[in-house]
Amino acid sequence: MFRKLTLSIVSILILNACACFAATEISSDSNIINKIFIHAEAAKETINPEIYGHFAEHLGRCVYEGFWVGPDSKIPNVNGTRKDVIEALKKINVPVIRWPGGCFADEYHWKDGVGPAEKRPEMVNTHWGMVTESNKFGTHEFMELCELLGCQPYISGNVGSGTPEEMQDWVEYMTFAGKSQMADLRRANGREKPWKVKYFGVGNENWGCGGNMSAEYYADVFKRYATYVRNYPGNNVVKVASGPGWADYHWFEVLLGKAAGQMDAISLHYYVMSGSWEHKGSAVDFNEGEWFKVLKNTLNLDELITKTAAVMNKYDKPKRIGLFVDEWGTWWDVEKGENPGFLYQQNTLRDAVVAGCFLNILNQHCDRVKMANIAQINNVLQAMVLTKGEKMIVTPTYHVFEMYKVHQGSKLVPIDVNSGTYQNGSDTLPAISASASKDKKGKIHISICSLNPQSPAEFECALEGFQAKKVTGRILTADAMNAHNTFEKADAVKPAEFKGAEIKDGKILATIPAKSVIVLAIE
Ligand code: AHR
Repeated sequence: MFRKLTLSIVSILILNACACFAATEISSDSNIINKIFIHAEAAKETINPEIYGHFAEHLGRCVYEGFWVGPDSKIPNVNGTRKDVIEALKKINVPVIRWPGGCFADEYHWKDGVGPAEKRPEMVNTHWGMVTESNKFGTHEFMELCELLGCQPYISGNVGSGTPEEMQDWVEYMTFAGKSQMADLRRANGREKPWKVKYFGVGNENWGCGGNMSAEYYADVFKRYATYVRNYPGNNVVKVASGPGWADYHWFEVLLGKAAGQMDAISLHYYVMSGSWEHKGSAVDFNEGEWFKVLKNTLNLDELITKTAAVMNKYDKPKRIGLFVDEWGTWWDVEKGENPGFLYQQNTLRDAVVAGCFLNILNQHCDRVKMANIAQINNVLQAMVLTKGEKMIVTPTYHVFEMYKVHQGSKLVPIDVNSGTYQNGSDTLPAISASASKDKKGKIHISICSLNPQSPAEFECALEGFQAKKVTGRILTADAMNAHNTFEKADAVKPAEFKGAEIKDGKILATIPAKSVIVLAIE
């Protein structure tokens, strides 16, 4: 039987902010420092697959080259969308893609992106490099992309520089089956049947690039525009209000206070870096202090969501309104030699550990967080896929999404984590971050990140209401903190089988290597 931990140990362990539980007392016989207690029978909330969502903006090489190469390209494609990227992304079960921005969305006029490709007018992408946008990739191309991936479209509407009429027309164009000007235009452009559009964002970052509005002003504007985002027969839209990009609880108070009745979700953006917005830090050349700093910023998401959820609970006790963390990820200095407006960055083992911690936190808050979209899917910020002409590689972050896909649609299993500490100078973090779920077949998956890049973490996992008979696992790690894949060495960082876990006296025992992400399957 377990013996109660002494109070002094408990007080150290309370430092574990990562698993975001009230520190319950965990009892154990062993001296192992990292302990996870899994309440297998208490699995209740579903982890919405959309928490594993993505974001594709007309920015740099995300859409053009990342997805769209055009039907005449030598790169193998389906009606212009490259096949290699689709094949890679199918393996991570992309549930939803948010498009066309970002900041771009509030300058985008959708009518420029439909109809014969050669007749579409060009525009200047003023946010991202002042490059000419050809509008060759528009609504039909995006919807076809979603069909190829089997994912939901999440459209970001233009509030900053568009009109309510333009927004209404877009929704009618996409979703109305009957006879109308917009539905007929869609038919003339080659699509008879309407599409289903479940998610529609009413603006993006309207406190900044989406119009520099105050919360009070945007709340009224949101209500006005949201009125015209109509539910045409057979299509029900989840209307998403634009939220803040930092801990601005006032924004949530005002939006929810004035417009809770008109919204189905509200967004939050959360980017992490090691430095400041001016000097974010290098994606590849960094030291342990920078490794520590970005993980610390990542774990702060837990407090941000907890406090946001508290505000939401005031206005929406039944939890009808979802919190959509619809932009998140690492943001590093642009790679040397790249267009500074294109936000192209490499992606290392550090990004993978950050992604694992992010997803653990998002899973833990799945009672309120109903969607999250990593920024961005290809060639921009914390990407899944990097391309160079016809070449394509997947990143360490991609592998985390592939390993964690077992959580999609599973029930969150509450866990208590008593973690040892990872010390850097006088500052500490928990040594591990974890989350667990139970899938439809009753299998339990636990994902664990080991934050310390120097020392492995031994851990013990006790299960309540579950008899473990078999444990298997997969691991993502490397020798160096900055290990990454390149076009020359595409498989430098990839998952491997993890054989280090065993069942002893009904508990799972394992040692997680330093700087790694593991997912265990317990049957
Ligand atoms: O993802 C890049 C940009 O970050 C988005 O366009 C904007 O919404 C955010 O500031």
